[in-house]
Amino acid sequence: MVVSNRGPIFLTENSDGVPEIQRGSGGLVTALTGLGRQVSLTWLACTQNEAEKGLNDKVIPFNNNASIRIEFINPDEEAYNGYYNLISNPLLWFLQHSMWNTSIAPIIDRSTWQAWNEGYRTVNRLFAEKVVNLLKKRKKRPLVMFQDYHLYLAPRFLRQNCDDPPPTLLHFIHIPWPGPEDWGLLPPAMREAILDGLCAVDLLGFQTREDSLNFLRTCEAYLPTVDVKYREGKVFYQNHCTHVRDFPISIDVDDLKKKASSPAVANLREEILDAIQGRKMILRIDRIEPSKNIVRGFQAFAELLEYHPEHRGKVVFLALLMPSRLGVDEYKDYLDALMAGAGRVNAQYGNHEWEPIRLLVGENYERAIAALQVYDVLLVNSIADGMNLVAKEGPIVNNKDGVLVLSDRAGAAQQLAPGALVISPCDISNTAEAIHHGLVMDSETRQVRAASLRWLVEKDDIKAWFKAQLETIAELDL
Ligand code: G6P
Repeated sequence: MVVSNRGPIFLTENSDGVPEIQRGSGGLVTALTGLGRQVSLTWLACTQNEAEKGLNDKVIPFNNNASIRIEFINPDEEAYNGYYNLISNPLLWFLQHSMWNTSIAPIIDRSTWQAWNEGYRTVNRLFAEKVVNLLKKRKKRPLVMFQDYHLYLAPRFLRQNCDDPPPTLLHFIHIPWPGPEDWGLLPPAMREAILDGLCAVDLLGFQTREDSLNFLRTCEAYLPTVDVKYREGKVFYQNHCTHVRDFPISIDVDDLKKKASSPAVANLREEILDAIQGRKMILRIDRIEPSKNIVRGFQAFAELLEYHPEHRGKVVFLALLMPSRLGVDEYKDYLDALMAGAGRVNAQYGNHEWEPIRLLVGENYERAIAALQVYDVLLVNSIADGMNLVAKEGPIVNNKDGVLVLSDRAGAAQQLAPGALVISPCDISNTAEAIHHGLVMDSETRQVRAASLRWLVEKDDIKAWFKAQLETIAELDL
């Protein structure tokens, strides 16, 4: 069973008001579809809209004979708001991406506590209760795989209520795990509940070694009576051992290549090439998300144009941005900030023939793939990022031996640093120089670097990510 906030499908209504089930994108869905062909798999998620509330207990055929049973929990609106819009995003997300300006935020007041107790705890409990119900009457020991920061408390609730047979619990955290210094910002009751919840699982997966190590340090700092074995990656707590490992997530290389060869992508690619009129292209593709550091990316571009004026008029910065979490104030403000940031650069350097930054807002995966095929430089300058899959998708589909400029704070840097130009995300002058270096790099060096990136991504794709977790479970004999 897979448990995550968002499910692998979303329900929409077509123009005649008839509900349509669409498959969600993303590597996790694709990886688990393969598994769905071999074992019976249930995916439990939280309804995201009214249409989904009516969709319960459905077996959804993905492709061929794969089938996954989709189940939902339906929290009431207020509980969901506290869980998603107040605790998961922004409180935990900002903390784990080290984004709080701690001289003024976060402010944890009565409404935060209410969101914690009646939102986050409630929804986590609903998830656990539903898992318990779904696992009833199973004879074989089930494997439950929790995903991400929305579900820190659910494993403990589940452990307390389900032991016949006791399930094997796995939790994979897709976002960074900072050290105890950052977790110290949370009141003890919150951080202890989070650590207690995670120490109820058998195998806890992180994106990088640094994240796993930080988790062990956080347990030692804040969990009373814990025993941490750093070398072995084990936490002993309440007569239970949690194994901690890193499993860097990746993309489905074959699936992406297939999508990239579609006629729709080819048409979009021609449109993009027409629009940039033979100029070089710097590309970024992100959710509109403060941790992605979009504003500093524009400032770095301005710096490039200022100190390397030879690029003026000859390069376009294309930013494909997807609206995200607009129910959270910090995200709305960030959208305004980045629009203003792009506007300033365009006003200062642009002219009637050349718009330096082209900002396209909206969700269009095919357009994103088309743009990835033709960048000269791909900019990923996140302040903090669990992995960043765009950094892995780019090298697979790009056909210009494009250069990856990659933040050392993105999880992807652990694997891709050898083929990328690595930058420090707050340093806009070093980012500008890296972009310049990428734009003027000779073709032989570009080729070698691009080949190395492709190899690094292909050898560890999403199937390897999934297999590594299952093999670890088997090896540890959980
Ligand atoms: C990150 C998180 C995921 C989340 C995704 C989109 O990648 O790790 O858990 O689903 O962002 O965010 P959203 O809030 O739209 O689900």
